[in-house]
Amino acid sequence: MTKRTIVTMPGDGIGIHVLEQALRVLDVVGFDANYVHADIGWELWKKEGNALPQRTLDLLAEHHIGLFGAITSKPKDKATAELDPSLKDKGFVYFSPIVGLRQHFNLQLCIRPCRTFAGNPLNFIRRTADGGFEEPFVDVVIFRQNTECLYSGVEWTNPPDVVRKALETHKKMAAFKNVLSEQLAISCRIFTWPACIYIAEKAFEYADKYGYKSVTVCEKPNVIRETSGMMEAAAKEANKKYPHIERWSTNIDAQMMWLTKNPEDYGVILSGNMFGDIVSDGFAGLTGGLGFALSGNIGEDVAVFEPTHGSAPKYAGFNPSIVNPIAMILSAAMMLDHIGEIEKGNLIRDAVADVIKEGKVRTYDMLKMSGKPDVISKGAASCEQMATAVIDKIKVKV
Ligand code: NAI
Ligand code: MG
Repeated sequence: MTKRTIVTMPGDGIGIHVLEQALRVLDVVGFDANYVHADIGWELWKKEGNALPQRTLDLLAEHHIGLFGAITSKPKDKATAELDPSLKDKGFVYFSPIVGLRQHFNLQLCIRPCRTFAGNPLNFIRRTADGGFEEPFVDVVIFRQNTECLYSGVEWTNPPDVVRKALETHKKMAAFKNVLSEQLAISCRIFTWPACIYIAEKAFEYADKYGYKSVTVCEKPNVIRETSGMMEAAAKEANKKYPHIERWSTNIDAQMMWLTKNPEDYGVILSGNMFGDIVSDGFAGLTGGLGFALSGNIGEDVAVFEPTHGSAPKYAGFNPSIVNPIAMILSAAMMLDHIGEIEKGNLIRDAVADVIKEGKVRTYDMLKMSGKPDVISKGAASCEQMATAVIDKIKVKV
């Protein structure tokens, strides 16, 4: 069999540190691959006016699988201010390269598992009626539609007249008729049936394959009738093939409350892009937070795996790096599952579980410290030490 090539995109800040550690782990489980580096992120924007260069897209198109660290994104005015002087006023416009990647390769499925690791001091606990505490086991997998909704990028401040006129064909626009166009901002929440039915079918298929009893559509169809309503209808349709799986429906606002009351009740959650982003951060917070939150962006041809955290610029310069590499390591394990190397993925997850359970090696977030350079001298493990602890557990098994 020819050796697989993985496109590595460290990006900015701590993305560079965590990806480096995940690659060490992949090596130890015996994943024999070539890695090619691809440029992405803020530094590329500053130097080239493009945070997602064509050469990176070409590499992904050729090799199909990517591992991504994190990027830095900044608002429009900062983006322009930091552009290389020779590129200023040449029409370069910043856009988020990870959103760009998802759209370019139609990585329409974003899968975000949020699972409790026994012994993680960051696990959600709740008070019992008698004043004690209990720690429910959370095992939720969020299916977030990754390319549409409010992230489609169809938006205006000061919309052109044709747009305004078109909107005024809707009677509800009457409420805004006296608003000056320059004081009007519009972002379109676009859902399409092919994308909704695709993710709904994938969510049920996943629930069936991995033994989850329910798929919960988490939207807001009582208010956002058309778009949320379309996702609901898609879930209903997809459910027909899997009648043994229960289909539940929650509103995003209520769901954010339920997840802090009875998170163990949920299995697979199905949402559009915006609400999927919100609800996945909510569940991630119950299972260790950003240092544990993994994700896969999956299309038919290309898939990119990444921790959901960003580049954490305030920690980027710390030497040694103090951030938790587990989210990135688990994202790499998810990549292994995706390409059929499930045993290797399991080895990694088991090793992570062992390290957490043992509790000897903990990064600053797990010790509930505030992220300062002195956390290492206070007993926190560095990014590298945490990865080494995982590696040591793997070595015992391979
Ligand atoms: P962030 O996720 O980078 O960091 C927020 C806070 O979470 C950090 O200050 C730190 O306390 C904690 N944290 C994050 N990752 C951690 C880890 N591995 N271990 C321990 N603690 C960790 O989000 P923030 O500060 O809002 O954004 C920073 C930059 O990242 C921005 O430019 C933002 O646009 C970008 N970003 C990029 C994402 C991506 O690449 N997919 C996702 C989110 C934000
Ligand atoms: Mg997010």
